[in-house]
Amino acid sequence: MKIAVVGTGYVGLVTGTCFAETGNQVICVDIDENKIGRLNKGEIPIYEPGLDVLFDRNVAEGRLKFTTNLAEGIKEAQIIFLALPTPPGEDGSADLKYILKVADDLGPLLERYAVIVDKSTVPVGTAEKVRAAIAKSAKVEFDVVSNPEFLREGVAVEDFMKPDRVVVGTNSSKAQKTMEKLYAPLVRQGNPVIFMDERSAEMTKYAANSFLAMKITFMNEIANLCERVGANVDDIRRGIGTDSRIGKRFLFAGIGYGGSCFPKDVQALAKTSRDYDYDFRILNSVMAVNEDQKKRLMPLVQDYFEGELKDKTIAVWGLAFKPYTDDIREAPALENIKALLSAGAKVTVYDPEAMDNVKRILGDQVTFCHTPYAALDDADALMIFTEWPQFRTPDFEKMDKLMKNKVVFDGRNLYELDVMREMGYTYYSIGREAVLSLDSEQLVVSN
Ligand SMILES: NC(=O)c1ccc[n+]([C@@H]2O[C@H](COP(=O)([O-])OP(=O)(O)OC[C@H]3O[C@@H](n4cnc5c(N)ncnc54)[C@H](O)[C@@H]3O)[C@@H](O)[C@H]2O)c1
Repeated sequence: MKIAVVGTGYVGLVTGTCFAETGNQVICVDIDENKIGRLNKGEIPIYEPGLDVLFDRNVAEGRLKFTTNLAEGIKEAQIIFLALPTPPGEDGSADLKYILKVADDLGPLLERYAVIVDKSTVPVGTAEKVRAAIAKSAKVEFDVVSNPEFLREGVAVEDFMKPDRVVVGTNSSKAQKTMEKLYAPLVRQGNPVIFMDERSAEMTKYAANSFLAMKITFMNEIANLCERVGANVDDIRRGIGTDSRIGKRFLFAGIGYGGSCFPKDVQALAKTSRDYDYDFRILNSVMAVNEDQKKRLMPLVQDYFEGELKDKTIAVWGLAFKPYTDDIREAPALENIKALLSAGAKVTVYDPEAMDNVKRILGDQVTFCHTPYAALDDADALMIFTEWPQFRTPDFEKMDKLMKNKVVFDGRNLYELDVMREMGYTYYSIGREAVLSLDSEQLVVSN
């Protein structure tokens, strides 16, 4: 089939590349000339494991092309995906200006029947708005379908090629047949393509993300209570995650969820609830707890240094909102680094993929290092914000030689308490007792 993907970001590029991989002719469209220029030179502008192999193959075989020209991109398309941003507006609602702009532009350009597929995460009722915007100037028949995307950055290719399920919202049997045909190669193992009405499809995406954000937040609250009662959240996680009714995933306590999806999608669902006069109380708590959770470590750092962070050097490992991505949108690391800087600390940072993106925001306010150990040179403490695998088994003796103090504030619970105790570190993590090193010269306040 001939496919256009409008919006070539994390979702659009993965969608386009994966549908090219299943044999379709794909043109990805974006208004960002720099991005399209790089893609046309064979450069992938985002970090996403496994994408390069598929990208290279499909570009080489002529199935995957890029343009900034919408008319050219959609000219022959039977299916037009909208993978455009839906950032939060000031009141938390999803901002539909990008989607509706493209919908307005599409109307006069359509030359034959096409299925317009909304892949962006959008509030209930958006498909109707998109349909109305296109209908204003369309001279041909078309369908608008809701097809929310559930891929996770970092494993996006795998998620896309082997989805747990595909959700499609449509009342048109013609569009349904097109979508069935398109997704057939991805669901050969029997994972379902679930058809429903478009409003339910739109709502399904928000329900999924809000539920996952709630699951993480619940564990963060359990962690906070664990610290007070003297329990270990990792043991609780193992104890409840093995219950098949609960499941093992999204139970890791930490310094709060971030990223481009959970924060904005929870906010947007709360806004929809307000619009429909429903007080969705759990969502309000999820948002409030997560805001507090992102600030969990700073008071401990302040206490450790007796409120005197001026001229202290704090090393930071991990900037991305999660491992295997360079995405720093709503990453807890950023907020914490800004708090460190405003307290007068010097900050040295390392992240395997996200440093370029942070440079664009923080410039030379922090020192960017080429290795995790370089960031530790003469550091008074280490803070960890992303659970990149390379941070999991560091050389603690080497760290000791580099750092001024053996103290670690770990927002991702990477290390065993016994190991840190044995190595003589002062170690704060989330939902576990603090390890207070005996030979620490600092005043240590237990959390
Ligand atoms: N990133 C994820 O993990 C993820 C997962 C599932 C769903 N989603 C949803 O998918 C949507 C897209 O997210 P993303 O992370 O890919 O965003 P993104 O910001 O990475 O990409 C969006 C792209 O759209 C382009 N764009 C903006 N206006 C345009 C226009 N008029 N014409 C053509 N291109 C235009 C931008 O230049 C950008 O490249 C959002 O609604 C998001 O909530 C994201």
